[in-house]
Amino acid sequence: MTRSSKPEEGLASPGRRSLLKAGLAAGSLAATAGLVRAGEANPENLPPNVADWSRYLGAGVDAAPYGVPSEHEAHVVRRSVEWLTASRESSVNFTPLHELDGIITPNGLCFERHHGGVAEMTPTDYRLMINGLVETPLIFTLDDLKRFPRENRLYFLECAANSGMEWRGAQLNGCQFTHGMVHCVMYTGVPLKYILEEAGLKTNAKWIMPEGGDASGMNRSIPLEKALDDCMVAFKMNGEALRPEQGYPARLVVPGWEGNMWVKWLRRIEVGDEPWHAREETSKYTDLMENGKARRFTWVMDTKSVITNPSPQAPVTHGKGPMVLSGLAWSGNGRITRVDVTVDGGKNWHEARLDGPSLPKALHRFYYEFDWDGSELLLQSRAYDETGYVQPTKDALRAVRGTNSIYHNNGIQTWYVKADGSVENVEIS
Ligand code: MTE
Ligand code: CO
Repeated sequence: MTRSSKPEEGLASPGRRSLLKAGLAAGSLAATAGLVRAGEANPENLPPNVADWSRYLGAGVDAAPYGVPSEHEAHVVRRSVEWLTASRESSVNFTPLHELDGIITPNGLCFERHHGGVAEMTPTDYRLMINGLVETPLIFTLDDLKRFPRENRLYFLECAANSGMEWRGAQLNGCQFTHGMVHCVMYTGVPLKYILEEAGLKTNAKWIMPEGGDASGMNRSIPLEKALDDCMVAFKMNGEALRPEQGYPARLVVPGWEGNMWVKWLRRIEVGDEPWHAREETSKYTDLMENGKARRFTWVMDTKSVITNPSPQAPVTHGKGPMVLSGLAWSGNGRITRVDVTVDGGKNWHEARLDGPSLPKALHRFYYEFDWDGSELLLQSRAYDETGYVQPTKDALRAVRGTNSIYHNNGIQTWYVKADGSVENVEIS
């Protein structure tokens, strides 16, 4: 077993306090009926007393015109990793996957990746231009976009570099950092097909190039077939306007394909007959193989899964007995059909329980409930998609792709759960 080589780099491992709590709480599930955790509660609020919050009126309706989470959830935030942060403007932060459940990512917790900072676009000055191999070059306002028939669809977005730091071995201590460049929201927008048809595609049209209105002017080449299939121009996420950091007022949605192509602050779409070979598809977002050649146009995000609980930032604090293991699985190819889980490093596999809607190219939630005997565990999950593709081990990936890659690491993740409940990022072979 290789231990995490830089355990200090991720987030700190669980403090002594939480481990002490784990000791106190051990075996207390039955005694407390799971309602309160021993060692934390204020006895004055516990039965048979009347709790504080039942004795006084609460805050009025105007206390928070735009609602915010409970102050007890203040630790549930996006986090960045100092040594991965080139500058504040060309940067990334990570979704706290270990704090979430279900399949929807709350808007304020969606990881952010931008190459030129968050553009401050004014909705009234927003314009989307369609030019190139079209019959009529057009410029749309935001209101124009909202007059096309619109659709609501739930998709994951994963950065191609998600888990990229783990290619050469276990690095970051927490699924927020190893897998947190993914989010899943409901997009409301216009199928790109309608917009392109409005401009009228010329017969030699084969590719599109979306371009961002931010300082990085992010652009990528996308085959027309994909553009006409399921791409959309979205202006809402989870029912409300896109957040500035997610591309307000409009972004491209490219279901199942690498996040870099989901151009934010979308200002222009050029139609052409060949790819543009932009920076982000030549010097970046290509996969350097062992023989010095690079894989190009590796767009689809392959089937992947991760156990979010327990994990290094979410240690086991309840001692032995019933344990709910939980995680996420997703595939750029479609639906997840099955997830297997092992607690002994792959000696025995168990089929996990998928729960919640199973939608193509969206996150899927899985659970595996078991009785923990308090001994050390090696946790792994392995996802299958509807095409029959099975998530590979990291070693199987390296055998094919070598170790020069950054992008498209969908290998199986291992968490090492120690007897004291703390969890560490490791690799086993
Ligand atoms: N679009 C523009 N205009 N500028 C950018 O820097 N970053 C890309 C993509 N679209 C980027 C962009 C990358 S690399 C990713 S992974 C996703 O946006 C991240 O989307 P998010 O910030 O909504 O999570
Ligand atoms: Co990215």
